[in-house]
Amino acid sequence: MKALVYEGPRRVAVKDVPDARIERSTDVLVRITSTNICGSDLHMYEGRTDMQPGRVLGHENLGEVVEVGDGVDQVQVGDMVVMPFNVACGFCENCEQGLTAFCLLSNPDPKIGGAAFGFADMGPYQGGQAELLRVPYGDFNCLKLPEDARDVRKQRDYVMLADIFPTGWHATQLACVQPGDNVVIYGGGPVGQMAALSCKIKTTAQTMIVDRHPDRLALAEKVGAIPINDAECDPVERVMELTNGKGADRGCECIGYQAHDPQGHEDPSMALNRLVNSVRFAGTIGVVGVYVPQDPGGANDLAKQGKVGFDFGMFWFKGQTMGTGQCNVKNYNRRLLDLISAGKAKPSYIVSHELPLTEAPNAYQHFDSREPGWTKVILHPDGGGSNPSV
Ligand SMILES: NC(=O)c1ccc[n+]([C@@H]2O[C@H](COP(=O)([O-])OP(=O)(O)OC[C@H]3O[C@@H](n4cnc5c(N)ncnc54)[C@H](O)[C@@H]3O)[C@@H](O)[C@H]2O)c1
Ligand SMILES: [Zn+2]
Ligand SMILES: [Zn+2]
Repeated sequence: MKALVYEGPRRVAVKDVPDARIERSTDVLVRITSTNICGSDLHMYEGRTDMQPGRVLGHENLGEVVEVGDGVDQVQVGDMVVMPFNVACGFCENCEQGLTAFCLLSNPDPKIGGAAFGFADMGPYQGGQAELLRVPYGDFNCLKLPEDARDVRKQRDYVMLADIFPTGWHATQLACVQPGDNVVIYGGGPVGQMAALSCKIKTTAQTMIVDRHPDRLALAEKVGAIPINDAECDPVERVMELTNGKGADRGCECIGYQAHDPQGHEDPSMALNRLVNSVRFAGTIGVVGVYVPQDPGGANDLAKQGKVGFDFGMFWFKGQTMGTGQCNVKNYNRRLLDLISAGKAKPSYIVSHELPLTEAPNAYQHFDSREPGWTKVILHPDGGGSNPSV
């Protein structure tokens, strides 16, 4: 089959690799029709993880079931399904509680809780930027989609259920966002956009979003967010102005350890400390941007060890609470699917490009440079949807 293979920093290629296949009786085999490039793929693409060359990328996957193992009960050949980026067993102590991002069985390394498709340090599973994907624990990890999912245009919304829509939602859950809250989101990439959409669904009073890319800020305005361009103003001061000097009730971090200033100087503490200063006393913060235990490519000695110069004194003094971590996609995807089906959420508003898989190396380059107009890329391994105008 054709698949997008990681070859080294900023080098990916579409290659022929052995077909994905059923390996255990609980596996499901999916022919991928839509698969996204994610901001998390860029950490790997840039060589800022220990991703092994030769592995297939892609963890935001949707397609049609083509084969099921003998032990699979409810998923059937022909079903259209979307998979969480997490690979989870469904029956360990953490999965039982909905904490599927920290599954205790799916990662063969007993020191690591949680696994994912095509991801550094998250188990041996191949990604879905490929013609075929093996889905372990298929009954648990496949979410069946309605019939209209056969329409590639509808897949634009449904494929966001694999990761970023639930992850944006998770940021607002970790931050305890309630109707009427003032919320500040740092990062206007796909995840920040989905946090803004989640705030709209939860009916916040004001949703403020901080970034420096005018196209991304303009996109967030479409779902009612107030844009704050940190290349033009001090974002903390702006949040204070908009909240009568009180600070936002809730804050969402949707950037991660490669946070930088508008000139490109990296500082993994930057967004976290701005959040502490933008959020009110006793406010709550959700951090879904990825931070890593080691970062040999980090900007300073602290960062290289995965450590952050966090303003803990101010955080403590303000009595704030922070939630962190990978999203438990399975915990939210069915309800968010219902919102899409009912026409109450249309996450596809961020899609800028739909391309055949063969265009993936080119697309990685553009998306990695955060070029204007490259907000979210969907790849079609079956070649469908090659029209970039959506
Ligand atoms: N927790 C999870 O389960 C999960 C899931 C998906 C993605 N992620 C992570 O979420 C983060 C965002 O993903 P994305 O797809 O939106 O990626 P992205 O890189 O496209 O978006 C990040 C945005 O942050 C902006 N930014 C950088 N530094 C900033 C700063 N100091 N202040 C304000 N904005 C700043 C960038 O301009 C960019 O628009 C990544 O770290 C990704 O790995 C986490
Ligand atoms: Zn992702
Ligand atoms: Zn589990």
